[in-house]
Amino acid sequence: MNEIIKTNKLCKTFSNGGVQQHVLRNIDLSIYEGDFTVIMGASGAGKSTLLYALSGMDKPTLGEVVFAGETITKKSPDELAVFRRKNCGFVFQQTYLVDSMSVLDNVLAAGLLTEKNKKVAASKAKEILKSVDIEEGLWEKFPTQLSGGEAQRVGIARALVNKPRLVFADEPTGALNSKTGKDVLDALTKANNEGQSIVMVTHDITSARRGNRILYVKDGEIAGKLDLGKYVSGDKERHLKLRDFLGGMGW
Ligand SMILES: Nc1ncnc2c1ncn2[C@@H]1O[C@H](COP(=O)(O)OP(=O)(O)O)[C@@H](O)[C@H]1O
Ligand SMILES: [Mg+2]
Repeated sequence: MNEIIKTNKLCKTFSNGGVQQHVLRNIDLSIYEGDFTVIMGASGAGKSTLLYALSGMDKPTLGEVVFAGETITKKSPDELAVFRRKNCGFVFQQTYLVDSMSVLDNVLAAGLLTEKNKKVAASKAKEILKSVDIEEGLWEKFPTQLSGGEAQRVGIARALVNKPRLVFADEPTGALNSKTGKDVLDALTKANNEGQSIVMVTHDITSARRGNRILYVKDGEIAGKLDLGKYVSGDKERHLKLRDFLGGMGW
C-alpha cells in the first residue's frame, strides 16, 4: 500500500503558563492511501493536535510531515493554504456551514475554489450531495433549516467536492445522536469504499469500528496500532477485537 503521509519525529509542545506540555513526542507514523484510519485516545491525549499537524493546519514544534511526497512542514502559510485546498478535506464536530447560503451554494462555493467552470462545479456539487443522501428537496434550504445529521452530511459533501487525496475528520459525530451519527458514518464509509482516504479522530467505539486501521495515542506517542480489515456492518468479532485492543491500551 502507498503511503500518503509519513511523519518523522513529530513533536508538539505547548507552553501553558510557563509550564511545557509535551503533547506529541517523536511520533513516527504512516498513513496509507485508501485506508480509513482512526485515531483514538483519551480526552486531552493529543488526537486533535496530531490531526492538525498531519494536515498542515498547525505547525509542529519539531519534526517533519511528508504528505503526497511533499515536506509540508517546510512550506510557508500561503503555500500550505494552496496545498491543503488541493489535497485535504476537513470535517469537524461543528459544520461551519455559511448560514446565509443555501445548502447547494455552500458546497458549490467550495467546489469553485478548484473548478472555475460554474456549470461543471454545480453538477459536481449536486452529484456529491446526492452521494451523501442529501436529496434535491434540501438543496435550496439554509443550514439552520437542517437537522444536525443533515448539516453534517452537507459538511461532508463540501469536504469531498474537490476529491481531495485525504479527508480529515475530527469527532464528526461528537454532537449527534446515534441515529444521525450512523448516517454520517455511512457517508464516510461510502466515500472510503469509493477510494477516498480518511483519517478520523474519535473517542467513540461505534465510530471507530468503521476504520480498517486504528492508531491509539497515549502519553504523546502512538501506543498501539490495530489492523481491523475493511468494515462490514454487523461484524461482532470486529467489535470484540477492537474492545480488547482498547482494553489493552487502558481505555
Ligand atoms: N493551542 C493550545 N495551547 C495550549 N495547549 C493546548 C493547545 N491545544 C491543545 N493544547 C493542550 O494539548 C493537550 C491535547 O489537546 P488535544 O489535541 O485537543 O486533545 P484531544 O483531541 O485528544 O482531546 C491538551 O492538554 C490541551 O490542553
Ligand atoms: Mg480533540
